[in-house]
Parts: sequence; C-alpha cells; structure tokens
Amino acid sequence: MFVGSIRNDSHTRKVTQAVMRMAPASLKLEIVEIRQLPFYNPDHEQSPPPDVVAFRERVRRAEAALFATPEYNRSVPGVLKNAVDTGSRPSGHNTWGGKPAAVISVTPGQYGAMGANHHLRQSLMAVGLATMPLPEVYIVHAGDLFDEKGEIKVEPVAKLLGTFIERFAAWIEMVLATIK
Ligand code: FNR
Repeated sequence: MFVGSIRNDSHTRKVTQAVMRMAPASLKLEIVEIRQLPFYNPDHEQSPPPDVVAFRERVRRAEAALFATPEYNRSVPGVLKNAVDTGSRPSGHNTWGGKPAAVISVTPGQYGAMGANHHLRQSLMAVGLATMPLPEVYIVHAGDLFDEKGEIKVEPVAKLLGTFIERFAAWIEMVLATIK
C-alpha cells in the first residue's frame, strides 16, 4: 500500500489503516513508505541512492499495489507521483509492470478526490499496472469518518471499503492467473 500523504495525522493514512483491518485473510497488506525518497533524478542512475534501491526492491517483491491518495490541486501530491516515477526507472527496469493495482482517493471536503484518482490511474497505466476499474472509491468528508478508536463509523463508507478490498483480493487472483 502506498499512501500519498506524508502529513502527520493524515486522513488518507487512517483510511488506509482501516482498509488493512477489513482485508480478507488472503491479503498480506503493508504500507510501503515513500517519504524518504529523493526527487527522482535520472542523473543518479549510475549509482542510485540506497533509499531508491530499497524502494525498488520492495516494489519488486510486492504481488500487487494499492494506492491511497489525497487530492492536491485536482491531482496527486508530488510525493506520490515521485514514488511512481522512482519505481518505474531506469528504462527497462520498471518495477511496477504487470502487477494488479487499485486506487482509493480521499478528501476532507465535500467535493474532490476524483481528480487525484483519475490522474493517478493515468500514470499507473503508463507503468503497466493493471488497475481495478470498479468499485470507484472517492472518500469525502474524511474528517468525520472515524470514531475515537480510529474505526470508520459511517456505515456506507465502511461497507464500500469492505466491498472494495474483497473485490481487490479477487482482482489480484484474476490478474496474476492471467499474466502467469
Ligand atoms: C489540498 N486539498 C485539496 N482537497 C481537494 O479535495 N481537492 C484539491 O484539489 C485540493 N488541493 C489541495 C492542494 C494542496 C497543496 C493541499 C495542501 C491541500 C486539501 C486536502 O484534501 C487536505 O489537505 C487533506 O487533508 C490532505 O490529505 P491527508 O494529508 O489528510 O491525507
């Protein structure tokens, strides 16, 4: 799981953690941190920074990728785009290709989250991820979602996320069976 916010107290991270708790036992989910990554610079490919090498290795080991992103100016935060770019290079060594993927987008506002979700899907397609089309998950009013234990108290949202993660488990099986 890749969380597109590096903010302390991020709504997006809380949604991600809630989804982890709802996931079927067949999924082993883990957040892969992206905050340590330097801005991607092709000049560094001769001798990539250790954080870049470790990140690419971690992506390679993952069977699937779940992205949870906030929306910044109707797109994804640069930190998440940077992670996608870092994992995709150097040319010929894309670590994402062929893996099943899914996207959740989150906003504390009433409108939003769709721009980020769709911009991200465009980049995921470019790096060869097989992104699950449905259910679309645009979480709004993220500041009002959680009870004091960090559980999602808004029943329709909890239900949507539960369905989403079950469908993602099935999507992973299907994509992996198809590409093997
Ligand atoms: C935002 N925010 C925002 N929200 C939204 O729904 N659509 C948008 O286009 C934007 N644009 C935007 C740009 C920038 C630079 C910032 C810092 C914020 C608000 C954003 O949704 C809010 O800060 C969330 O709390 C960010 O997610 P996390 O950090 O809580 O996960």
